[in-house]
Amino acid sequence: MMQTIAWITTLIFILLIAIVFGWVVIRSKEKREYTAIMTKWYKTRKVYGITLVALLIIFSIYTLRELPYNAPAYGKGENPTIVQTEAMQFGWNIDVTEFSVGEQVEFHVTSADVTHGFGLYDEDMNLLEQTQAMPEYTNIVYYTFEEPGTYKILCLEYCGVGHHVMDTEIVVN
Ligand code: CUA
Repeated sequence: MMQTIAWITTLIFILLIAIVFGWVVIRSKEKREYTAIMTKWYKTRKVYGITLVALLIIFSIYTLRELPYNAPAYGKGENPTIVQTEAMQFGWNIDVTEFSVGEQVEFHVTSADVTHGFGLYDEDMNLLEQTQAMPEYTNIVYYTFEEPGTYKILCLEYCGVGHHVMDTEIVVN
């Protein structure tokens, strides 16, 4: 939906620019006194510039308020389950590994040693969410499980000879 809106908006602006170009090409054969045109359009350019900068500032403030974009807006009385998730050479230390369908989960992901990757997979090994597991830093992954099943967490970043054994399972009932 968002992509369709962005695509249509882009097309409209491309069309507008094409119309302006066409208009300039058609009018370019006319000879006219330059100074008057210059004065008029320099003034227009200033107005246009200020408007554009003002719009950009408003739009930036409006959209940046939503950061981080994947954070769900929790309603009153809703308590997400916070899951301390620590990666290490070579395994995972996860303090909750059983969840129920519809539970809002926050994986607080960090690392005990080097940088790892946190990848959450469903039963068909589709990647659902991912982030980096970094020492001395916590990244948050927000996820609400919609289906029961056995999910997998794999390391997504080469972290040493045991990288490939860094997989574990979590269960959703
Ligand atoms: Cu940890 Cu790869």
